[in-house]
Amino acid sequence: MKILTGNSNKNLSSKIAKYLKEKLVNSNIRKFKDGEIYVEINENIRGNNIFFIQSVSSPANDNLMEMLLCIDALKRSSAKNITAVIPYFGYARQDRKVVPRTSISAKLVSNLITQAGADRVVTVDLHAGQIQGFFDIPVDNLFTTPLFARHIKKKIKSKNIICVAPDVGGVERSRALGRILNVGLAIVDKRRPKPGQSQVMNVIGDVKGKTCIIVDDIIDSGGTIVNAAKALKQRGAKDVYVYISHGVLSGDAVKSIKNSPIKKLVITDTINNENKVRSAKNIEILSISNLMGEAIRRISNSTSVSFLFK
Ligand code: R5P
Repeated sequence: MKILTGNSNKNLSSKIAKYLKEKLVNSNIRKFKDGEIYVEINENIRGNNIFFIQSVSSPANDNLMEMLLCIDALKRSSAKNITAVIPYFGYARQDRKVVPRTSISAKLVSNLITQAGADRVVTVDLHAGQIQGFFDIPVDNLFTTPLFARHIKKKIKSKNIICVAPDVGGVERSRALGRILNVGLAIVDKRRPKPGQSQVMNVIGDVKGKTCIIVDDIIDSGGTIVNAAKALKQRGAKDVYVYISHGVLSGDAVKSIKNSPIKKLVITDTINNENKVRSAKNIEILSISNLMGEAIRRISNSTSVSFLFK
């Protein structure tokens, strides 16, 4: 087994390599002056099983192209097997045509990864589980729920917890966390009047006096979560904690979370946000490196990955 990293999240790749007691493959991935990406692998990888780690986070187009070129370089260097390890699978939110004459980016990106030469994909909390079916190669979709549940049990001492889905699409995820914690479920009825804007219409369930735990896959502008937290507080919630797999955190997201009633926002490090969130006392980063490292070890040894979902 050998591990190669792209430039999107070298911190996470180093932690995964440390967990596996492996070194990262020596490579040179840089840009020409016109912005084109150049990839060179500086060691022999012939016949090796390669795990290539890259998130499709901002700048998404550059990071995606870098991934495709790295997979191509690995294939042309006679790697035996290439696993694209994609901690954050960007472009996943366009997974169907919601209005006519739009693209389905999740399908196009899946095709590109397969065509580039990947034999397998490992990712974390896909925006929609069905995206696995866009690939005709095996996809291991890892879940953050057990990681979040352990953190909640350790850090939140309240006896009166309720899990909250920030929109109807998040019900399954929140219910799964609620099942592990053995607590109930509330649902925020969110509408999007325009792309990038969210509005809370109602909260289904009684949150009065409760410690609310909102769980979602992505926080982007922060609108969904901040509006949900405000609505919960208005309905008498005691505290609001938020657990999110992927901290996209674009624009003024960090600022609006800092100024919101959210007691603590916990994100994972599928996207490198260390500098961005440094000044925010109510944002914590929980590393996913051990979970990803263990999944890689198990794939490499052909043992069960679903064991990690418990
Ligand atoms: C939507 O379905 C996703 O699960 C997130 O709720 C959404 O992407 C969050 O976006 P924002 O933070 O911009 O409201």
